[in-house]
Amino acid sequence: MRLIFLGPPGAGKGTQADRIAAHFNVPHIATGDMMRQAAARGTDFGLKAQEYMDRGELVPDDITNKAAKDRISEPDAEKGFILDGYPRTLEQAFFLDDALEEIGARLDRVIYFRIMGAAIVARVAGRRVCPVCKTNYHEVTHPPKVEGICDLEDAELVQREDDSPDTVLRRLEVYGEQTKPVAEVYSSRGLLVDVDAMGTSDEVFGRLLALIEK
Ligand code: AP5
Repeated sequence: MRLIFLGPPGAGKGTQADRIAAHFNVPHIATGDMMRQAAARGTDFGLKAQEYMDRGELVPDDITNKAAKDRISEPDAEKGFILDGYPRTLEQAFFLDDALEEIGARLDRVIYFRIMGAAIVARVAGRRVCPVCKTNYHEVTHPPKVEGICDLEDAELVQREDDSPDTVLRRLEVYGEQTKPVAEVYSSRGLLVDVDAMGTSDEVFGRLLALIEK
């Protein structure tokens, strides 16, 4: 099973990619997570990526493509994967076509998370992350057992640097300019299906399962 989850910031792609990946026992490959992890380790790739992420801009295609190709070529991705947040430019989408051809794989579906603007704002504004294990919470919809503290690591939850209102606005603009056209390409190939990303996490998960198992 090879799926791409596409959609605006805060649509719930990462939350659902985690659940779907666990359900089907395939890796959840999120370029944003890979970049944040690399930045925390202080690698050249991570530090370069951080400069762009902090401004809400896309990280340049060449280094993003290399990281994505290396990851989908790893042995655990042979049986399939959920790609979350990649590709998000036309250049990345065409690069992915070639990378998949090289490893003799093809995409099954591209799932587009459809969500209203007000819900995006509410989801991003309430997101809190554990700085140690990177678990995502939400102040209202998915709070930790003890306010402000990770259930797993006993660490104080933080807000992502790029979740500040100005940066979110820029991420949304970038999404419209550079990532929407990617959805159009997959739609023209008959690969794109929409999921209604409004409602609870369980409701969205149920809709995704129904779509994938159809
Ligand atoms: P990335 O990390 O990919 O961020 P994003 O695409 O903007 O998406 P988010 O992580 O903000 O949201 P999500 O849709 O995963 O929502 P989530 O499940 O967390 O990218 C960040 C940056 O990295 C980019 O700006 C760019 O700089 C760089 N980058 C990454 N990939 C790149 C690429 N391919 N090319 C170039 N640059 C790249 O949910 C959000 C919140 O809502 C959470 O708190 C969650 O608990 C809550 N929630 C989730 N579902 C529900 C629900 N159903 N109901 C209520 N609350 C919910």
